[in-house]
Amino acid sequence: MEKINLFFWSFCFLQWFAGAYDPLDPKGNITIKWDFFDIHDGDGYVVTVTMYNNQLYRHIESPGWALGWTWPSEDEIILHMSGAEATKQGDCKRFKSNPLPHSCERSPVIVDLHPGVPYNLQTANCCKGGVISSLTQDPSKAISSFQMAVQSSVNFTATSGAFGSPSNFSIGVPGYTCSNNMALVEPTKFSTGNSQRIQQALMTWQVVCSYSQFRESNAPSCCVSLSSFYSDAIVNCPRCSCRCPHTGLAGNCYIDDEPDNKLQTPNGEGDDKIAVKCTEHMCPIQVHWHVKVNYKDYWRVKVTITNLNFFKNYSDWNLVLEHPNLQNITQIFSFSYQPLIVYPGTISGSRRRRENKKKIGRINTM
Ligand SMILES: *[C@@H]1O[C@H](CO)[C@@H](O)[C@H](O)[C@H]1NC(C)=O
Ligand SMILES: *[C@@H]1O[C@H](CO)[C@@H](O)[C@H](O)[C@H]1NC(C)=O
Ligand SMILES: *[C@@H]1O[C@H](CO)[C@@H](O)[C@H](O)[C@H]1NC(C)=O
Ligand SMILES: *[C@@H]1O[C@H](CO)[C@@H](O)[C@H](O)[C@H]1NC(C)=O
Ligand SMILES: *[C@@H]1O[C@H](CO)[C@@H](O)[C@H](O)[C@H]1NC(C)=O
Repeated sequence: MEKINLFFWSFCFLQWFAGAYDPLDPKGNITIKWDFFDIHDGDGYVVTVTMYNNQLYRHIESPGWALGWTWPSEDEIILHMSGAEATKQGDCKRFKSNPLPHSCERSPVIVDLHPGVPYNLQTANCCKGGVISSLTQDPSKAISSFQMAVQSSVNFTATSGAFGSPSNFSIGVPGYTCSNNMALVEPTKFSTGNSQRIQQALMTWQVVCSYSQFRESNAPSCCVSLSSFYSDAIVNCPRCSCRCPHTGLAGNCYIDDEPDNKLQTPNGEGDDKIAVKCTEHMCPIQVHWHVKVNYKDYWRVKVTITNLNFFKNYSDWNLVLEHPNLQNITQIFSFSYQPLIVYPGTISGSRRRRENKKKIGRINTM
């Protein structure tokens, strides 16, 4: 593994936090808004669908999001789409229009287009192959959007709330679940270009999705090993940190550094259950914390992150560290770093500020 590019999903020590609640990012969510820009009662509408990644450090990486929902009735179809595409056109034979609708699926799945698609297929904030950055890494890339024209028989003047809205949303990324129904919220306001004018959508529907490590997998994805200059001993990742080796599943890990070609899955993406290197801890990612010096005035550590999953390359990864003695980082080498500031508002009513340190970067050589 001469080259590793990895995203460190979540700090290993956080594994035991249950449910969707992440104390390092208590408000983290992905909010999906449908902003209406043209409504023809009884006929259809034009909406811009935007996904906002409101998570501090979790990003959506390649192969990206795949947004799914279920239309409220058979009447809804997607006539046209730009900035993204439905994976299936479905059965459009009951529609005589020419060209045929973009998708007649009752539960369509939409995927982002890749960078470099023709200009006429693009919209603002589209075409990033479904990759969305996090708020800390690159807030300007923490949104993704596309536009579509929908045929629908809903009369919005005669109804209220989010009547006629789709339900059953999913974003196609492990670990995320979305609220069941869309809510009618304050119309989104936009400032256009560098003018002072503020425009707003005619109507906005919203659905919120959240992440849970436990929904993604009940096994941790990383472990931490420790060593220091003053001791020969290495405290390795505990055995079975992520899974136990030799659990009877033949071929559930690889001994060699180079798994042979027949193990390549057709789309180049691997199932990480079978693609990791055999270790006692069986974690796809290992973080090693080596204390290099420990003086009265300061200490210095070297952190090494190893990708042990043969079939996964990670890009724009980040590593979140929580350590009681990281209040005053003075120097970071080879990484960019930002404190992750969390206000755990509910802890005994106090606004105790907890600062967590965060590194963002890319490793190219090891
Ligand atoms: C989603 O995130 C936004 C931005 O942090 C926050 O204002 C909102 O309350 C969150 N919504 C939910 C349901 O958690
Ligand atoms: C929509 O509902 C309003 C109010 O009930 C009605 O005046 C209007 O004619 C309806 N429009 C269509 C296209 O059905
Ligand atoms: C929810 O969506 C899935 C596909 O995304 C679909 O197969 C399923 O039928 C939908 N469920 C309901 C209740 O509409
Ligand atoms: C990961 O990146 C390396 C080097 O760029 C490449 O050789 C390898 O095929 C990639 N693997 C996957 C699964 O994309
Ligand atoms: C952090 O370190 C700087 C420089 O070493 C020092 O001036 C400052 O007082 C320290 N702050 C705290 C809170 O320890």
